[in-house]
Amino acid sequence: MSARVGVVGCGIIAKAYVEGSIAFDSFEIVACADLDAESAAVFADVHGLQVETVDELIGDPSIDVVLNLTPPAAHAGVIRAALDAGKHVYTEKPITTTVAEGRGLLAEAERRGLRIGCAPDIFLGAAYEAARELIAQGAIGTPLSATATFLVGGPDSWHPNADVFYQVGGGPMLDIAPYYLTAIASLLGPFRAALGLATTPTPERRFGVGPRAGASFTVDVPTHAVAALQLESGALATLTVSFEAFGQYISGLLVHGSGGSLDLPDANAFGGPIRIRNGDGEWKPVEYASPGPTETRGLGLDEMLTAIREERPHRASGALALHVLETALAALRSAEEGRTVEIGAREPVRPG
Ligand SMILES: NC(=O)c1ccc[n+]([C@@H]2O[C@H](COP(=O)([O-])OP(=O)(O)OC[C@H]3O[C@@H](n4cnc5c(N)ncnc54)[C@H](O)[C@@H]3O)[C@@H](O)[C@H]2O)c1
Repeated sequence: MSARVGVVGCGIIAKAYVEGSIAFDSFEIVACADLDAESAAVFADVHGLQVETVDELIGDPSIDVVLNLTPPAAHAGVIRAALDAGKHVYTEKPITTTVAEGRGLLAEAERRGLRIGCAPDIFLGAAYEAARELIAQGAIGTPLSATATFLVGGPDSWHPNADVFYQVGGGPMLDIAPYYLTAIASLLGPFRAALGLATTPTPERRFGVGPRAGASFTVDVPTHAVAALQLESGALATLTVSFEAFGQYISGLLVHGSGGSLDLPDANAFGGPIRIRNGDGEWKPVEYASPGPTETRGLGLDEMLTAIREERPHRASGALALHVLETALAALRSAEEGRTVEIGAREPVRPG
């Protein structure tokens, strides 16, 4: 039987989830709610959903799972309310804005026998699964390092609520780095320590679109950051993330091993080419089969629901998301304090 899902937060990403959901048999999005009642009503109308207030939806006994698509600072409150109502939750990233909040929510879910799943789920797609298998089979020897880069100009040019992504819980280290950190954790295992540097070259920005277009807002978080990361396995990784590369979209993830390298596709999108190079050889394409329409937002929720049915752990889990959040925050804290920061809660995270 397919799970009945209620969306909380009817903004930009909600449309992608609702449109993508037709690819999945495991769930059906049936209702929506938003603090802004008008947004919820319009969204419900466009997508043929039942509209409720946030409290009504979370308390609605006919809803099995809350899909939390609110801004980062609202994530913890919505997750807590859904757990209190006895519901599983799948949330957008970052899971929360502090590690303490995240730990509290995971403990509460465990106590209640409920699941928390969290985006990103790109690492569950065919490209990153193929890469994970190659690495596990030793195709590049012993993994030594990963090099991840994601540089864009920031959401101010296209997002009507761009200011939220420059407040606590935003910035490229919490908004974008989770795609790359989750991919690296899936491929190579958990992180042990972070050394970071961060700057804010553009401390004031302007909305490029929406009702506030042209108005300025203040940036509260670093917008350009690098991290050197030590993994539990002994491998090392570097990450560069930025909202300062105006008009550009630069994404890369390379994994180097003792016997070769893998060049991986955009960790912020499903699909894309994989290349492998061994020894002094040429780059060669890696073929992999794509499952088609299920490579869309909702894959992680689908996998969580399958895992619940099969009584096994799910993969786009709250524990993995919390580990990723802790790693990103460790890099930012390192940048502030000028020292290496250890990452604590790495035990639950294992590749695959
Ligand atoms: N926009 C994207 O391309 C994108 C991509 C991937 C992930 N995400 C993630 O999705 C989440 C939402 O992003 P978005 O771009 O859709 O934001 P958005 O601003 O477009 O939409 C968020 C909606 O949540 C509502 N909201 C705020 N607080 C609420 C609360 N406490 N209860 C109920 N509703 C509340 C707002 O009124 C708004 O309609 C964020 O965590 C973001 O990181 C966004």
